[in-house]
Amino acid sequence: MILPIVLYGNPGLKKKCTPIDAEYPELTDLIENMWQTMYQAHGVGLAAPQVGLNIRLFVVDTTQTAKEEKDKAESIKQVFINAEMIDEFGEPLDYEEGCLSIPNIHGDVTRPESISIRYLDPEFNLHTETYTGMNARVIQHEYDHIEGILFTEKLKPLKRARLAKKLDKIKKGIVDCDYKVKR
Ligand code: NI
Repeated sequence: MILPIVLYGNPGLKKKCTPIDAEYPELTDLIENMWQTMYQAHGVGLAAPQVGLNIRLFVVDTTQTAKEEKDKAESIKQVFINAEMIDEFGEPLDYEEGCLSIPNIHGDVTRPESISIRYLDPEFNLHTETYTGMNARVIQHEYDHIEGILFTEKLKPLKRARLAKKLDKIKKGIVDCDYKVKR
């Protein structure tokens, strides 16, 4: 089932999310719905607050964007439950980001090249892993969502000022995108 994606301006996107346990109702369905919702909106990641749920859950699929063989080999399709960032390290890199909750807005965000993160998979097995490159980038963006942080807050002040009017329109629900959204 495709879920409407919550738009920038919705207070739910600014809240720190809470962990869940294995008893969380209909988790398998929710994860499946999040994949469907992400793919039909052509996203590479989606976090629970973007579908209106204040829980520490996000999904990432970098397999679709990997162009070079090396990137393909390293790309991931994964569910992250109750993720906790352990470390961020390596060179700070600029990369142009976007977000399904902030349609048609893009901008360079500086983030460290690599991360170590602890999380549960859908069977609630605990993992601690290190990611780099595109995987680290997308995970950091989605992790920010479950901490109530949006990429626009990490843009340089001048860029943010330039986008202010556009962001205001999104807040009012004036958007032009081909997937289902809600304010
Ligand atoms: Ni996003």
